[in-house]
Amino acid sequence: VDLLKEMIVRKGKVLNSNVLKVDSFINHQMDPVLMYEMGKVFADHFRKQNITKVVTIESSGIAPGIMTALALKVPCVFARKKKPLTLNEELLTTTVYSFTKKEENEISISQKFIDEQDCVLIIDDFLAHGEAALGLAKLTEQAGATVAGIGIVIEKAFQGGRKKLVDAGYEVKSLARIKSLSNSTVEFVEELELEEAAI
Ligand code: G4P
Repeated sequence: VDLLKEMIVRKGKVLNSNVLKVDSFINHQMDPVLMYEMGKVFADHFRKQNITKVVTIESSGIAPGIMTALALKVPCVFARKKKPLTLNEELLTTTVYSFTKKEENEISISQKFIDEQDCVLIIDDFLAHGEAALGLAKLTEQAGATVAGIGIVIEKAFQGGRKKLVDAGYEVKSLARIKSLSNSTVEFVEELELEEAAI
């Protein structure tokens, strides 16, 4: 999505060689036009797989997740990082380690919202080491449902998450792939490199 790359270049801030700050349009203030455009791209890419549900994780996965679900006209379920008081029914749970934050989170989804009939599209804002996406895939499979694929807004291609997900058998569609954040500069993976990688 050219609009996304343009916004990353114009409004993103490289905090260090590992972290890109995008809080003016994704992680804090959110741009609804961009979110909906991205949702439509994910929806068009995965539509043929008869997705019945979008699964994401709070908090920053919710906006791209709901927009994708809107474009597909299916429900969006988000995994919780803290168990809410009202969540007293049976839960699917797994543990996700965050390399960025160096902490473990138990994530959960109520069992009643995913079942073996579901074909699930997983959506998240960032792909770093792939732990969150793998955790969401685990929850989906615990429910007996099928993972159709994983849609990522910004992939940090230098952190190895894609390989983990592809090795686990999942299709990954990222809208912006970042090759490097060195020297305070965002460098994207070039189209040519993408074509070569596909050969
Ligand atoms: P992983 O799931 O791919 O292994 O990633 P990791 O644990 O490293 O990421 C943990 C959190 O940090 C996630 O948000 C993720 O979206 C975010 N994150 C990772 N890399 C970056 C980055 O370069 N820039 C920004 N802005 N965020 C990054 P979270 O803790 O779930 O927070 P939120 O969803 O509540 O915002």
